[in-house]
Amino acid sequence: MSQVLIRRKAPTVYTYFAICPGGLDEVLKKEIEALPAKITHHYPGGVEFEGPLEMAYLACLELRTASRVLLRLQQTKKIFKDEELYEAVHAIDWTEVFDVDSTFSVYFTETRTKDRRGQTNTQFLALKAKDAIVDRFRKKFDRRPNVSRENPDVTIRLHWHDHILKIYLDLSGRSLHERGYRTETLEAPIKENLAAGLLLLADWPRLAAERVPFLDPFCGSGTLLIEALLIATRTAPGLFRTQFGFYSWKDHQPDLFDSVLERLKSKRVLDPAVLPRFLGSDQSEQAVAITRANLENAGFQSLVTLKATRFEDTAAPTPTGLIVANPPYGVRLNEINLLLETYQKMGSTLKHRYSGWQCGVISSDKKLLAAIGLRPRKKWNLHNGGLESTFSLFDLYKSEKMAK
Ligand SMILES: C[S@@+](CC[C@H](N)C(=O)[O-])C[C@H]1O[C@@H](n2cnc3c(N)ncnc32)[C@H](O)[C@@H]1O
Repeated sequence: MSQVLIRRKAPTVYTYFAICPGGLDEVLKKEIEALPAKITHHYPGGVEFEGPLEMAYLACLELRTASRVLLRLQQTKKIFKDEELYEAVHAIDWTEVFDVDSTFSVYFTETRTKDRRGQTNTQFLALKAKDAIVDRFRKKFDRRPNVSRENPDVTIRLHWHDHILKIYLDLSGRSLHERGYRTETLEAPIKENLAAGLLLLADWPRLAAERVPFLDPFCGSGTLLIEALLIATRTAPGLFRTQFGFYSWKDHQPDLFDSVLERLKSKRVLDPAVLPRFLGSDQSEQAVAITRANLENAGFQSLVTLKATRFEDTAAPTPTGLIVANPPYGVRLNEINLLLETYQKMGSTLKHRYSGWQCGVISSDKKLLAAIGLRPRKKWNLHNGGLESTFSLFDLYKSEKMAK
């Protein structure tokens, strides 16, 4: 078993693991390279990287597609027995990771690992790990930290893959997609980090720098608009958050964190004269009102023109632009049949009234995407919550050929 990594003296280089929605790991990898951090491994759904403590703060604040940033405390050699798992967790001096008065929670996941009975029971293994942590505190203080499932100060995540156990401290706390600006939502809001991923796939940072206008004509609660604004204004997506998991970590250095925050705030570009035009619309008045409220939360209300209208009743307001949209998608068959018409109309509107534009559409239904009737320039399979989805990118040339 490898040696305990937690020491009284904080290490100068830590190993981190960032998790993202399935299909976005190449995008996340580029974001991590740009931090800039040294990538050590790249897996489907996550990227491992190294860096000093400051990198923990940069990753939690700046990564747009990450759902979580974890700090690796320990990685074992192959272990097979429950007792070995207990020992590996117990070997860490948890009293140097968090305070006995903090509440904590343990999550356990496993892949390709079965115990000697040929079974896995992640709940049982999480309990075993919790006992090991508690025993370590008791030995030192004769007291133990309490478990909180709802709102723990500290979250420990264990992943057992191919019998190798990795033990992590969750630096993000609540998922990083919860930026903090979205206080109201309507039907099927897209997660903020997935929305940011679509914009990065659509090359929005480059287009925004060229002041190409942005439109979401199915804006719902405004997530894609706000994420597009965050990118264009070079605003770190974590700046709105008031809580992070690392607040309860003993190596946390509030002064260093504050200096990182100040540096990131000073990088923001909010002068409308250098920003692109932002337009949002939705057929629902209520959606437009919710988008307005969320834009206000983010401080972007003066930068966006909003309108309640159906997309098929609009025409391109400028010769070029980028649309990124998440139109309604049905799960039941009767809903899908009704929505076919919406997608057909969308395709026809794009073809006849938005030539010169680019458009990215995410949908969990291939039949609906095909109903747009345009040939995508590129497409990606992505995980949208529990739904396998496709993000298709279309170039709307003057003479866009309809797909056969
Ligand atoms: C899946 S929701 C968009 C969610 C949004 N991305 C968010 O994060 O909140 C789809 C939206 O499309 C709107 N919609 C449906 N048909 C429309 C149409 N023909 N024109 C414009 N908006 C439409 C609905 O009112 C709904 O708000």
